[in-house]
Amino acid sequence: MNYQLQLPEKIIFGRGTRKQLASVLPHGPVLFVTGTHFAARVETEFLPDLAGRPCRIVSGIHPEPPLDDVERVRQAAREINATAIVGIGGGSAMDCAKAAAALLPESGTVADYFYGKKKISGRGAFFAALPTTAGTGAEITSNAVLSDPGTGLKQSLRHASMFAKVAIVDPELTYDCPPAVTAASGFDALTQAIESYISRNANTFSKLLALQAARNILPFLPVAVDEGAARHEARDLIAEGSMLAAMAFAQSGLGAVHGIGHPAGAVLHVPHGVCCAILLPTVLRWNLPSCREQLGELSAALIGQTPEVLIQMLEGTRRMLKLPSNFRSYGLKPEHFAFIVENCRSGSMKSNPRDLSDKEVAAILEELL
Ligand SMILES: [Fe+2]
Repeated sequence: MNYQLQLPEKIIFGRGTRKQLASVLPHGPVLFVTGTHFAARVETEFLPDLAGRPCRIVSGIHPEPPLDDVERVRQAAREINATAIVGIGGGSAMDCAKAAAALLPESGTVADYFYGKKKISGRGAFFAALPTTAGTGAEITSNAVLSDPGTGLKQSLRHASMFAKVAIVDPELTYDCPPAVTAASGFDALTQAIESYISRNANTFSKLLALQAARNILPFLPVAVDEGAARHEARDLIAEGSMLAAMAFAQSGLGAVHGIGHPAGAVLHVPHGVCCAILLPTVLRWNLPSCREQLGELSAALIGQTPEVLIQMLEGTRRMLKLPSNFRSYGLKPEHFAFIVENCRSGSMKSNPRDLSDKEVAAILEELL
């Protein structure tokens, strides 16, 4: 069995580790990229540690960052001659910062690279990532999910040089995350752990990480979402689980939940984590004939039960978290199937344990109407 491991240069995990950011950044101006809600916190918590350095904050990054947001961040970084771009937020803020860092020295538009007209050289700026939600794993991976609202296309910009130089996973940053966001992003992380474990490209290293990620997340996600006293300890575990799941799928790739979830989410405007929650049990049932051994192994290690029981347990967890079980409320109609089928053939579908024909993808969607 041959494999190679690709991860950020440095990964720092633990409560309070965000205070280490200033010490790991290179000299020079710093551009912070964050969501609307977190901008004030960047100003009070991070800028004082960088006193004396030119800094700027770009906030208001949209979900599945549109190309214009990346252009805006890249422009701001050029204006201050940034030597580092720091993404602090959910997957969108981190991905936007990651793409802008990769494209900082490049000529042409962001769209040139999104549509493959030009190739990324790998000479991008220093990029650091700090997640404030536990789920996407964008701090660990080398791709940035972007969208073009003009064409409705959502896909990854990807290059081996796009791994963060430093990923700082401080669970305290997730403590204020609203319950609904914690539930959806946690389900994304759980999906990523399971899809990684049963991926065609899984290896010893990725499976160990994926199993531990699922162990951290499955039993503790309802506790993390609850407002009870135990939620901080639970959120520490979810933050670590999300990081481990991303370290796993950065090696193994994902599966059909992500393959189908991206175009479905784009066309129906479903948040990514919610999409994962809707699709995971159904896709696992479809995959089961092709991955009984792998899913059996995972189920036995996790809950001492069969894959069928694990899938039922995932449905129960989804119910407990008040996440939907189909796309009905998002208006899925048979007329959407063609777009989803046409746009689902990403790398995730290639690592899915079962080859799914266009007809089979449509049949999966049929079950979720
Ligand atoms: Fe995901």
